[in-house]
Amino acid sequence: MEISASLFVALLVGIVPLVGWIMWWWNDLWYALPISLRLSHQKAKLPPGYMGLPFVGEMPIFIWYFKFLRRPDDYINSKRHKYGDGEGLYKTHLFGSPAIIAFTPSANKYVLQTESKFCVEWPSKELVGATSLVAVEGASHARVRNLLIRAINRPEALRHITLMVQPVLTAALNIWTQKGRITLHNETKKVTFTNIGKYFASFEPGPVLDSLDELFKDVVNGIRAYPLNFPGTKHRRALQSRKKAIAILREEMERRRKSDDCTNAKYDILEGLMQMKDEHGKQLSDTEVLDNIVSLVLAGYTSTSLTITWAVYYLAKYPHVLKKLRDEHMPMVEKLNGKFITYDDIQECTYTRKVVEEIIRLANVSTCAFRTAREDVEYKGYKIPKGWKVICWIRYLHENPEHFEDPMCFNPSRWDEPPKPGTYLVFGGGPRVCAGNMLARLQVSVLLHHLVTGYSWKLVNPKVGIMYLPYPIPVDGVQIDINKI
Ligand code: HEM
Repeated sequence: MEISASLFVALLVGIVPLVGWIMWWWNDLWYALPISLRLSHQKAKLPPGYMGLPFVGEMPIFIWYFKFLRRPDDYINSKRHKYGDGEGLYKTHLFGSPAIIAFTPSANKYVLQTESKFCVEWPSKELVGATSLVAVEGASHARVRNLLIRAINRPEALRHITLMVQPVLTAALNIWTQKGRITLHNETKKVTFTNIGKYFASFEPGPVLDSLDELFKDVVNGIRAYPLNFPGTKHRRALQSRKKAIAILREEMERRRKSDDCTNAKYDILEGLMQMKDEHGKQLSDTEVLDNIVSLVLAGYTSTSLTITWAVYYLAKYPHVLKKLRDEHMPMVEKLNGKFITYDDIQECTYTRKVVEEIIRLANVSTCAFRTAREDVEYKGYKIPKGWKVICWIRYLHENPEHFEDPMCFNPSRWDEPPKPGTYLVFGGGPRVCAGNMLARLQVSVLLHHLVTGYSWKLVNPKVGIMYLPYPIPVDGVQIDINKI
């Protein structure tokens, strides 16, 4: 009896804390210790940080800050408090992999611009498309990027797109007022996808577009899910839906090739990519065209619908900004005399440009950009080990009061001056900077024009909290009451 009691006490005071200690430091012991030993004779060392529990690493801490506390920036703040700023790098273990977080402008710039040392790696290339811009590298990346930028991000393309998106947008605004009260994010998803269908492949609203919408929703969900290809998993469903979406798009390509009618000459991105030639006269293969259409839809769908949602939200919260915007756009309505606003008109709207930039800064659609170290990399005395993920924590750049004064305040006038170098990376940086950045800005500007000149609205739940996973959005999806003015 006495023996078992003392055994119990021994367990309690000795073994349990020891096991707890080992578990707590497991990832540091497993991943960081061997590297630190290997580096012991070198000057460079691993950045400071904590790598978390077995398998899950720091995910519970990340989720704690993002999901439960809803103070995402304090995840990095707490590290700064504990380890200091160092050279803007921390070691951790997140999203299933040992990783280095880069959180300062210089560390982010270094990682995003040094493609020779850091590559983009997708958990599932099959979903984004192995020959799509986001997945290819080097010369292939430069070639495809050149063609895509011509199709979606240059003034000639944007001029067409500006006119193409407005019928859908104005019709949607009309429907919103008929409903009176709407959950904005649901509506912006619909209108964004309808417009994507239009300027990507000239699909009109109807059953084909509706099924594409459903299929792409599955693919978006699959990209965020763990890449497990079993029946019932989101990943498996996403792969199947992608196949079906590709079949619809391929059929459209074939229809265009067979048909003699001159609608083939109409401009949309599918047609643009089918026709375009690089400087050697080489066209994209069918697989390249299809992979790129899919990856562009994936990149543009959620990002655009979310940013538009945030635009309406912030203008409802900051009426003095709304008034200044109206003052800029109302005279234009007279000038346009019932016609749609053009790309060139929008370029003249200087205050709108600042509002759009401020919306995009605060919307923080992309929290992070991910890279993988191709080799052991040394940066300012710290080692980034080969094969580890590097997480460019771009959200933190935009929410840091050292970069943007009173960062949570929606203040378009801060854009009277350019931001400090390297502090504004909403669209990433380096050779993979967002290929649709001008298109995104344009779509927000066009929406603002119609919204502020024709409608008034207010938030149903102005005090509602914001959730940050899977992306930042007010919890109620932004419910508004909207009327014509
Ligand atoms: C406000 C809206 C948007 C934001 C905040 C945004 C943000 C970003 C960011 C941060 C990256 C870099 C990712 C990395 O370095 O790993 C990126 C890349 C990309 N974005 Fe966007 N994006 C937006 C809208 C769009 C739109 C509308 C399109 C096209 C329809 C688009 C197409 C792309 C593509 C193709 C890439 C990959 C570029 C490459 O690998 O060369 N984005 N975006």
